[in-house]
Parts: sequence; C-alpha cells; structure tokens
Amino acid sequence: MEIELLSGALGAEIKGVDLKDTSSENIEKIKNLLFEHKVIFFRNQDINQKEQVNLSKCLGPLETHAYVKGLSKFPEIVRIIKDPFEQNAWGEGWHSDVSYNKEPTMFVVLKSVEIPPIGGDTMFSNMELAYETLDKKLKIKIEGKKAIHDSRGSEFFTEDYNSMKSNGNFDLYRNEHPIIRTNPDSGKKALYVNTMYTREIVGLDRKESDSILNELYKHQERLDLTCRFKWTKNAVAIWDNRSVIHYAIADFYPKRGLGHKRVMDRIAIRGEQPF
Ligand SMILES: [Fe+2]
Repeated sequence: MEIELLSGALGAEIKGVDLKDTSSENIEKIKNLLFEHKVIFFRNQDINQKEQVNLSKCLGPLETHAYVKGLSKFPEIVRIIKDPFEQNAWGEGWHSDVSYNKEPTMFVVLKSVEIPPIGGDTMFSNMELAYETLDKKLKIKIEGKKAIHDSRGSEFFTEDYNSMKSNGNFDLYRNEHPIIRTNPDSGKKALYVNTMYTREIVGLDRKESDSILNELYKHQERLDLTCRFKWTKNAVAIWDNRSVIHYAIADFYPKRGLGHKRVMDRIAIRGEQPF
C-alpha cells in the first residue's frame, strides 16, 4: 500500500487497496486511513453500483437523501448529474452534507462516473484543524453555543436542477447543532458550521450572530486548511463528513457552452446526532 498526502492539512490518495475487497481486515484498514486523513481517494476502482453499495454498508447503515430521488435499482445511490445546460451546480459552495438533518451523514462514498476533460475538482477543508487554529477570543465566544442549520426549502433541491429529480418530499428540515462538535472516532473537536446550511447562532442577536458566523466561515475556508482532488474516471472518495467541509468546483462552466458533463454516484452512511 502506498499513501500520498494531498496537502499538509488533510487528504491522502491511497494506492494498492482494492475496494472490491470487503473483508473485515480491508474495511478496518480503510476506516483507519479515513480517520487519520479525513478524506481518502482511490483511483481506477472499477466497482459496479452493487459493489459500491456493499462497500458502503461495511462502513455503517446507509441513508437515503432527504430530497433527491435515488436510482431505481439502488435507492441508496444518488446520481449527481451536472449536464452541459445545468444552470446551478450541485455542491458548489462550502458545506458539510445535510447538516440540516438531526443526524447528519457520517461518511460519504462518492464514485466518479463521467468526468469533464477539464475542471470539476473537489476541495475539502479540515474542520479539526480549523478548530485548533481558531483565534482564542473567537473560541471563547462560541464555546457551548449552538447554531441552527436549515435545508433552505425543498425548492432549492427540486426546482433548481434539471437532471436530478425530486423524491417528492417537500418538508423543511431545521435543527440545532453545537458549533464545536466532537468526532468520537478521532476524539477531536471540530468546527461545525457551513455557509450553505447554517443560519444563526442560538441566543445571540442577528447582528452578533452574523458577525461571528462570517468570521468562522472566513477562517474555515482558509486555503492552508484544505486539499484538492482532481478526479479521473472510476475514482472513489470517502470522507468523514463530521470533520470536513467540501466544495465541488463547477469550473467546467456549463453556461459557457463547452458541452462538458460530470456524473458522480453518491452513497451516504448514517451519522449520529452531533455532540
Ligand atoms: Fe456535498
């Protein structure tokens, strides 16, 4: 096995591990790599959808997406399609997946199906390191505080995208989570807010809440906390959604008429209520 670090902050590309192998020994190895590097990448993994489901099930119970319809044969797989005419880009903007849920996703297993010849990288930022490097005064201000995360309304998910279909759910999800959460697997504290879903800090007036959140967003997006992965076909990323935020860069520019398309299969593993 070879491990190539993607940056000094987080992320590693792993060579010499076969994701078809779901033996307990191999799963243990993958989990250990995941907890150490927060996000791990594997190239040239020619696994089919059933094999992706099998691998994901070994990491924990699977969840279905709140709003997006899964594949008919494998409802746990959400196919993320960015077609050449799509006006909005799914996942563009820093976020932790479905942080509006009461028990947000623990891990994501994302496999590339079709990759544009240029652009479409994904960036990740290490929220344990973000907590560690946070200004002391700011740390004191957010200690013990909670923030409200909400799903922005179902229209965002169901009307803004051409190629991805709604599952018919129109409920709004709104939950409070601690701003500093503990990842029980790494034992570390992580900063848990994101620009996409976090709305306000509980118990503060709007102005103060906005000001603190903006400082936290600016800090968590610092480039020295990040890594960047350039996709190739049949690559798999697995990330710990409790300790990273990520950003799918749509720099293959659908609106400029370049004709590029990006297709990914996503499976999510159910998480615990943040504490
Ligand atoms: Fe995402």
